[in-house]
Amino acid sequence: MFTSYKAELRKLLPSFIHNPQLHAKWLNTLSFLENCGARKIASCQHPTKVKKTMLKHAAEESRHAFYLKDQIKRIVEVTPPDYSLDSILGGTASLQYLNKLDLLVAKYLKSLGRDPHIAYILVTYAIEKRAEELYPIYMDILKETSSSITVKSILLEEEEHLAEMEEEIEQIFEGYQLAQEALIIENKLFSAWLLALQNAEKAQ
Ligand SMILES: [Fe+2]
Ligand SMILES: [Fe+2]
Repeated sequence: MFTSYKAELRKLLPSFIHNPQLHAKWLNTLSFLENCGARKIASCQHPTKVKKTMLKHAAEESRHAFYLKDQIKRIVEVTPPDYSLDSILGGTASLQYLNKLDLLVAKYLKSLGRDPHIAYILVTYAIEKRAEELYPIYMDILKETSSSITVKSILLEEEEHLAEMEEEIEQIFEGYQLAQEALIIENKLFSAWLLALQNAEKAQ
């Protein structure tokens, strides 16, 4: 069954936020993941048949990546120039998170003989479900610590993306059954990512 990691996140995120160096890396990690999402959406676009919603989605994920990166200057003097391993948290678990999700969902669809093109919808759905869990927790902790950073605008857009993906899934034969498997796959990867983040915090 789909497990919630809300409690673990609530415990972990304050320790990042209270340490400026860790908080900067956390924002850079989120920025990296948002940019991975933007790049994936762009790479899935058909050159001529791409719809307005998909253009919007790619543009908004790019904006999230830039926005999060741009907030780092409020916390530390030097913004990491890139997403190299020493500038993010979670190491390779962060770097490979979306690629692995893509690969495993594609493998699952292949095993069923289903159209590999629907992987994009299932993967995006799983990511948006996770974003819907993670951003409100981060937002609450930012508020509790009177941080000058807010992620409200990101959360509002992620909610719209999730609704768009749900509409797409409804049009796929047995869409929600397939989506449930994508959530199970994502859940395992998220669990490994969370463990890597917890190790990063312990290493401080
Ligand atoms: Fe996003
Ligand atoms: Fe999104």
